[in-house]
Amino acid sequence: MKYQPIGVFDSGYGGLTVLKEIVKKLPEYDYLYLGDNARAPYGNRSFDTVYEYTLQSVEWFFKQGCSLVVLACNTASAKALRTIQQNDLPKLGTDKRVLGVIRPTTEIIGQFTKSNEIGILGTNGTIQSNSYPIEIGKFYPQIKVHQEACPMWVSLVENDEYKSTGADFFVEANIKNLLLQSKNIDTILLACTHYPLLINKIKQFVPEDITIISQGEIVAKSLVNYLDRHPEIEKNCSKNGQLAFYTTDLPQDFDNHAASFFGKPVQSVHIEL
Ligand code: DGL
Repeated sequence: MKYQPIGVFDSGYGGLTVLKEIVKKLPEYDYLYLGDNARAPYGNRSFDTVYEYTLQSVEWFFKQGCSLVVLACNTASAKALRTIQQNDLPKLGTDKRVLGVIRPTTEIIGQFTKSNEIGILGTNGTIQSNSYPIEIGKFYPQIKVHQEACPMWVSLVENDEYKSTGADFFVEANIKNLLLQSKNIDTILLACTHYPLLINKIKQFVPEDITIISQGEIVAKSLVNYLDRHPEIEKNCSKNGQLAFYTTDLPQDFDNHAASFFGKPVQSVHIEL
């Protein structure tokens, strides 16, 4: 069978928290991971820039033989996915698919809340796009969505400061702002694939009766389901259990950081987009 890996993309390392869960559930497939570390973070960039960078990455995945690409990045899913699906995919190949992380999360988020009030923590880009309130409203119109942008969190994680006491200041401030919006929030979604690394700090400032949700497992389950429902796409995904990692920045740096996100050592290769 031809080498046709499933592509997994993020601006940096965060998508590795999703890939880790996908590989647990679907170890037989081949995967290509790309972190656009040279241009990360995407969170404060404009729609046009995130779209341009994400499209370049998607085209790169297709050139490597991928038929299916998962944008394991909320910012790219919020700002670029729809345009790529509607405008670019028809030109890039009718047998190609690009999926994001917002839809699988919003489809099931209603299962977690009893109070019907949810808090969303994400990058500026994700929060300003209003993607979560819009998408949650389609599935669960009864749910009230509160949002807080955490512009510093990705940088804390990417710069290895996520365990430092300095990080407490930003984590506490953003969680306080979110919880001040309503006393009824009973579920908080970490709507950024970098945030699971801050989980211990986040738990320090979130009352115990509030459920905190990360997306890795949700996205992995949804991919299992997608492949079941789409045999015409599934048959274009090769199965040798191979993993390959690429970065647009220094492989040495990538490898040093990536293990904490992926849970295992990785060896990456540099590419230019
Ligand atoms: N992991 C990306 C996300 O889920 C981080 C975005 C960024 O680069 O700021 O939003």
